[in-house]
Amino acid sequence: MSTAPGQSLHRPQEQILCRLDELPEGRSKGFALNPEARYADILVVRTQTGVYAYRNRCPHTLAPMEWEPDQFLDFTGTVIQCGIHGALFRIEDGYCVSGPCARQSLQRIAVTVREGWLVALESLERIRD
Ligand code: FES
Repeated sequence: MSTAPGQSLHRPQEQILCRLDELPEGRSKGFALNPEARYADILVVRTQTGVYAYRNRCPHTLAPMEWEPDQFLDFTGTVIQCGIHGALFRIEDGYCVSGPCARQSLQRIAVTVREGWLVALESLERIRD
């Protein structure tokens, strides 16, 4: 899990997450406002088609979903898997395709890349509320 560095590349309501090259294709990463937090506030996945971010709350019980720090994908690396009861979510839109919350979706967080930095378009503080 990472915390954002203090940079001037973002507007006050935004949050710098990491350098894009710190998140290789096919990997996931969690980010928390509190660096001592056990669980991430948001999860980010990078694929060949883009970078996708979601609030780290499973629609089933609203619990955080990582099964280890920064580990949000199943063993195939092609879907997001909740570490509690195994619900599977499409990376591209967060839609649950299998599990106790089937047909529900993760809450999408808008992100962008600026000068090589991955930026959430809202603050982690607001996302946690
Ligand atoms: S808490 Fe995620 S599947 Fe139950």
